[in-house]
Amino acid sequence: MTDGRRAHDIRRLVRPHLLELPGYEPVEPVDVVAQRLGIPEDRIVKLDGNENPYGPSPKVAAALGAFGSYHLYPDPAQRRLRRAVGQYVGADPEQIVLGSGSDEMLDLAAQLFLSPGDTMVNAPPTFGMYDFLGAVYNARVVQAPRREDFGLDLPALEAVLRSGARLLYLAAPNNPTGNPLPREQLERLLRYDTAVVLDEAYAEFDGESAVDLVAQHDNLIVVRTFSKWAGLAGMRAGYAVLPPPLVDIVWKVKIPYNLSVASEQAILASLDDRETLKEHVRLITEERVRLSARLAQLPWLRPYPSTANFILCEVRGVPAVHVRDQLRKRGIMIRYFDTPSLRNCVRISIGKPEHSERLTDALREIGAGVAG
Ligand SMILES: Cc1ncc(COP(=O)(O)O)c(C=O)c1O
Repeated sequence: MTDGRRAHDIRRLVRPHLLELPGYEPVEPVDVVAQRLGIPEDRIVKLDGNENPYGPSPKVAAALGAFGSYHLYPDPAQRRLRRAVGQYVGADPEQIVLGSGSDEMLDLAAQLFLSPGDTMVNAPPTFGMYDFLGAVYNARVVQAPRREDFGLDLPALEAVLRSGARLLYLAAPNNPTGNPLPREQLERLLRYDTAVVLDEAYAEFDGESAVDLVAQHDNLIVVRTFSKWAGLAGMRAGYAVLPPPLVDIVWKVKIPYNLSVASEQAILASLDDRETLKEHVRLITEERVRLSARLAQLPWLRPYPSTANFILCEVRGVPAVHVRDQLRKRGIMIRYFDTPSLRNCVRISIGKPEHSERLTDALREIGAGVAG
């Protein structure tokens, strides 16, 4: 026993691998960026978080305003929500579990399957959360990089699956590359004795889903979210469709009141106003075509095809970070990547037509500077 607060080296008690954790790099909020740049908040064009520029259904604010039970805990069994979501995705409500964003569902999967030292497979370039969770749970993360066209390297993945990997995360469409996952490839990977978490965060933008396959494959979990298509990123609302043998375990592991009543209300109101939200998705996918064509006109940018709400572009002849910084000075936020699996690229979330206008004007200016 020791006296005094400073006598304890509390860090010595922390699980050692956490001390070395690289951490996750989240995007900065608008007010922070606006203040740093000295630009009014409403002049910031935020195209770095794959958020929905049209926001949520107006029914969400109405439901939140009218709700009278904020002082009570939510239903721990999520009954109404599971019924509504089950009906939306065409799955048995018994197989649905909701959480604070699909991130929580991805974390739940890691809790279920990853003990320290277990093998997790990852197919980069992909969503950074998968590597992050592998590191948090002290898994042995084996990388099976994608091919040049960002399709999966199936032989490489299958070799790792055969070697006894416990968990594979796959995003469809993939972030940040925007390409879909052919169904037959998923089915091929499901033959192995590995839990596959299919992350369908952007599924509503390409209309494809593998939720129906959960009925046939006990090693498939499909994770989805209200952040993107329903404009509820700030509310934190996601869910998973589970194979029956996992249902009781998940309910024992999950934090009981993980979803706020505000998220509950927002989800129910969104599912009640699908027409409006579908229209938002239509506007975004229409803008994706227009913006992609405009980006392709710039000789130093090469946009990749996308079925999601963002476009990845290879940058030629200039560092991608320079493009990000130059846009940032003009109040336009995008992401850049320069990693072994993704060289010199920027990712641009689809905004409204006026956002595309400001972006492409700025890119032309930056391009002229580069040429000069
Ligand atoms: C592929 C993918 N999965 C999951 C998420 C997390 O979404 P949520 O807001 O539901 O936690 C994101 C967010 O950008 C994502 O790109």
